[in-house]
Amino acid sequence: SKTIPSQYIEDDEEDLRPGGDGAKWEEEQLMASMLHLGAKDARKNEPEFELLLDEQIDFIQALQMPGTNEDEKEKETEAEKRKMSIAEVRRSLPVYAFREAFIEAVREHQVLIIEGETGSGKTTQLPQYLYEAGFCEGGKRIGCTQPRRVAAMSVAARVADEVGCKLGTQVGYSIRFEDCTSEKTVLKYMTDGMLLREFLNEPDLASYSVMMIDEAHERTLHTDILFGLVKDIARFRPDLKLLISSATLDAEKFSGFFDDAPIFRIPGRRFPVDIYYTQAPEADYLDAAIVTVMQIHLTQPLPGDILVFLTGQEEIETLQEALMERSKALGSKIKELIPLPVYANLPSDLQAKIFEPTPKDARKVVLATNIAETSVTIDGISYVIDPGFSKQNSFDARSGVEHLHVVTISKAASNQRAGRAGRTGPGKCFRLYTAWAFNNELEDQPIPEIQRTNLGNVVLMLKSLGIHDLVHFDFLDPPPQETLVIALEQLYALGALNHRGELTKLGRRMAEFPCDPCMSKMIIASEKYECSEEIVTIAAMLSCNAAVFYRPKAQVIHADSARKGFWSPAGDHITLMNVYNKWQESNFSQRWCVENYVQHRTMKRARDVRDQLVGLLERVEIELKSSTDTIKIRKAITAGYFYNVSKLDNSGLYKTVKHKHTTYPHPNSCLFEETPRWVVYYELVFTSKEFMREMSEIESSWLLEVAPHYYKGRELEDSTNKKMPKQRGKSAKDLER
Ligand code: CDP
Ligand code: MG
Repeated sequence: SKTIPSQYIEDDEEDLRPGGDGAKWEEEQLMASMLHLGAKDARKNEPEFELLLDEQIDFIQALQMPGTNEDEKEKETEAEKRKMSIAEVRRSLPVYAFREAFIEAVREHQVLIIEGETGSGKTTQLPQYLYEAGFCEGGKRIGCTQPRRVAAMSVAARVADEVGCKLGTQVGYSIRFEDCTSEKTVLKYMTDGMLLREFLNEPDLASYSVMMIDEAHERTLHTDILFGLVKDIARFRPDLKLLISSATLDAEKFSGFFDDAPIFRIPGRRFPVDIYYTQAPEADYLDAAIVTVMQIHLTQPLPGDILVFLTGQEEIETLQEALMERSKALGSKIKELIPLPVYANLPSDLQAKIFEPTPKDARKVVLATNIAETSVTIDGISYVIDPGFSKQNSFDARSGVEHLHVVTISKAASNQRAGRAGRTGPGKCFRLYTAWAFNNELEDQPIPEIQRTNLGNVVLMLKSLGIHDLVHFDFLDPPPQETLVIALEQLYALGALNHRGELTKLGRRMAEFPCDPCMSKMIIASEKYECSEEIVTIAAMLSCNAAVFYRPKAQVIHADSARKGFWSPAGDHITLMNVYNKWQESNFSQRWCVENYVQHRTMKRARDVRDQLVGLLERVEIELKSSTDTIKIRKAITAGYFYNVSKLDNSGLYKTVKHKHTTYPHPNSCLFEETPRWVVYYELVFTSKEFMREMSEIESSWLLEVAPHYYKGRELEDSTNKKMPKQRGKSAKDLER
């Protein structure tokens, strides 16, 4: 049907999409058509309606203000812009006026800090300017790092377009498990994590003439580490040019760190953005976001797309579905509404959709994570809806527990979000929180990731680079001492470091894998347990970071029984392996995926990741061996993840063995009902509680075998694997976000 954007439905998956819930729809249709009449009238006639919209009354008033003439004019010029050729777009960007000055500045200075608002053309243009100015002569490359994969891929695609070449030739990108570059590549976009890995093979970055550390203000862990590394090599490679670019106002800080490097400012073009707050806090920001989107769509003239900031893929998909249902219910009564998701793991075939111009007589609603704050620029946005949250990882050094939390954003982020509405004309930003909350509850700046995350990975990497003294590493902001110590202890327990803190042979092999130390260790342990085939499959499935199964509302029963068909009494890891193996038996068929309610896209990615891992096994000289013995497989898993072991205690609760931290079986786990005594899990996800995601049953005696230097026999007493009385009383609510 017309209101469903075609990219949502993949070929033969169409018939599996959820059908409608008639009763609910009728009500919504009624509400929405009243909205169409004008919200004020509707409020007079329909009290329930008022309830729903009460808190947004200020929004409605804001939306009913007729657009000024200037507004209209801006809209026209924007429409004009859509028709511009690539060359014209390039010339229209704010950086263009500074092209010569920029090239001159790079010639003159080794390190340059660039500051310019999002969308001014830093990422796409600056590397091109340098390429055009001859910085790639002599076979050198220009590199540009991005904190996020989607940004690296989409920007590379855009630049390939501008250059007029095929992606992967002169212009390419490299992200974890995916290298889209070739010998020919001169402009290389990559994630910051990939550049960090490149240091392992090329510690002086010899193949690059220019390195641009982009989105520096994001202060991701990898970017922060890169600062210290590139500052160091700049000293003994005077021919290497360094660009540190940032969208916000922390250029001074970067300049100070890089020995007072000059700051090159690109003046922004920003139109006024009106900001609206809710009168009272929103109980359900997703619902509030939906209502606001519909209000904007029904009351505001076209063009003018909407950008909604959400915390993750799940929320994005929920909202996408809800918006499609609503606009489908309204049918031809409204202009077409096109919801488009943007998040870090977005499959590449869906990415291009974001940047396509909005069709005439339709409105895009971009549903994005904070990736759209600065990393990805989408043209044509006039309205921003900001619920004020984002997902952030945090690490509790004392309990060693790491998880993703939904947290309130900082004032800086909030203003950055609002600014996205004013790129091409005056805009409006709807904050789904109160002005009081903004002033009193939001921090000024976000905390850099390095100060709130597990450093195991990075410490292993730095040790592999021969950087021994981590305490005196040149950090822009140092991590807490405690976190460094924990990372060293964990790597020691994994066997990656010896008691003097030096890298062991095992550690060196582990560092070859672009995975967390636990996963790398699991993969290497598969050699001993002769099950590398199975372990790389499991590692690949775990690394996809996307849902394996889907569960269309109209077919929940079928979907669930299909899912249960893969279950293994040994646990979720073996279940994931079963899914992959069955798919492989079907000759990687898409039809098989559809029939089994398995996400074909996730599986394709798993296959790619697996291929890469198999290649890496060869590098560390581990033979591919297969075993059907799930005990061996689970021992290899435990060899990597022995920190993540919980034991069911007599009160019926799972507690981690070392720190007695309470954890809960995830409701999607195949062991949710089983509750075995000892379990190893992949990770904790915190929603309403700390849930163990992907868990498998183990025996406590294995812990002494795989981690004798970490566990003491005493901690593992009561090693009977008898089942405990069921731990119940979890309400469905506990399982919500
Ligand atoms: O890096 P910065 O935020 O300064 O800007 P940019 O990413 O270089 O984007 C400059 C312009 O390129 C945007 O305003 C878009 O018009 C366009 N662009 C695009 O069309 N597709 C992309 N994937 C990225 C940028
Ligand atoms: Mg950029």
